[in-house]
Amino acid sequence: MTGKGPKTGVNDSGSAVIMDGRELARAWQDRLKREIRDCRPAGGRGPLLAIVRVDGDGQGSRYVRRKRAVAEAVGILSRELVLPATATQKMVEEAVGRLNADEAVDGVMVQLPLPAHLERDAVLARIAADKDVDGLTAASLGRLAAGEPAWVGSTVVGIRCLLKHYQVALVGARAVVVGRNRFVGMPAALFLNRENATVTVIHRKTPNPEAIARTADILVAAAGNPGLIGSEWVKPGAVIVDCGANRLPNGLVVGDVEATVATVAGMMTPVPGGVGPLTVAGLMDNTWAAYQRRFDLGGA
Ligand SMILES: NC(=O)c1ccc[n+]([C@@H]2O[C@H](COP(=O)([O-])OP(=O)(O)OC[C@H]3O[C@@H](n4cnc5c(N)ncnc54)[C@H](OP(=O)(O)O)[C@@H]3O)[C@@H](O)[C@H]2O)c1
Repeated sequence: MTGKGPKTGVNDSGSAVIMDGRELARAWQDRLKREIRDCRPAGGRGPLLAIVRVDGDGQGSRYVRRKRAVAEAVGILSRELVLPATATQKMVEEAVGRLNADEAVDGVMVQLPLPAHLERDAVLARIAADKDVDGLTAASLGRLAAGEPAWVGSTVVGIRCLLKHYQVALVGARAVVVGRNRFVGMPAALFLNRENATVTVIHRKTPNPEAIARTADILVAAAGNPGLIGSEWVKPGAVIVDCGANRLPNGLVVGDVEATVATVAGMMTPVPGGVGPLTVAGLMDNTWAAYQRRFDLGGA
């Protein structure tokens, strides 16, 4: 990348700038740690994030461990409520309800996916609006769509941090989001729209998606489809944000974007080490914001 100003420009080196989510997340967490240490009221309790997890295939516990480790590192207390794999819908919803009612809890999230016998959306709908720090409820998404103050999901908070750090111009940019799921693709599209980018969303029924993607200054991949996006999808110099986190049978985690895209793009996120670490930092940022609101600290 060369030149000054907004960096949705050209790739004249034949190799994209790799946007380092790990490093950014570390700096973000350090900032949060200082802020929490300096701003939380002396003698009072610290912010607390509660995570509901239903025992399943084991991946969930790995993600929760990581979130709790980061929470501890920045000075956020965490609590994990583990229910057995056989838990009923009522048991899971009641667990969420108890955390909603608990004055000591600032943020509530449910680790996904849930076992197939549980109705995910009904569980998420139980999360109290003021504690929805993962921003996954239909209510939060609706507020985001309506342009009202809303919890923005932690993945999108992470993307916002990334694009800001790398000075990617959003106003007037042409953005294409691949995937319309309410957890990643749709909130990313709504966020970009709110920032005055012109946004197109691609899904499985979209004809000729490559041609549409090639119009993008900013291409966000949220398809959960390993290697779906090759260089033929990418306009030279485009900024590529790969949200894909796809575990292969050999255990490796890969994104939706092929590595060869680096020869065409201006900037791109790696997987792992891109959006993932920023998502966790975004969750902590939202939890701290919920605490600040609750205690009227004026920072959020
Ligand atoms: N980095 C993070 O922190 C983070 C957080 C959450 C999720 N993720 C990852 O993000 C990815 C997406 O997750 P998700 O929960 O949104 O997945 P999902 O529920 O399977 O949704 C995938 C979306 O992509 C679209 N899609 C899939 N294949 C496509 C294709 N060949 N062409 C066009 N569109 C296609 C689907 O279209 P239809 O609607 O037409 O089916 C759907 O809208 C996964 O890899 C997941 O692990 C990452």
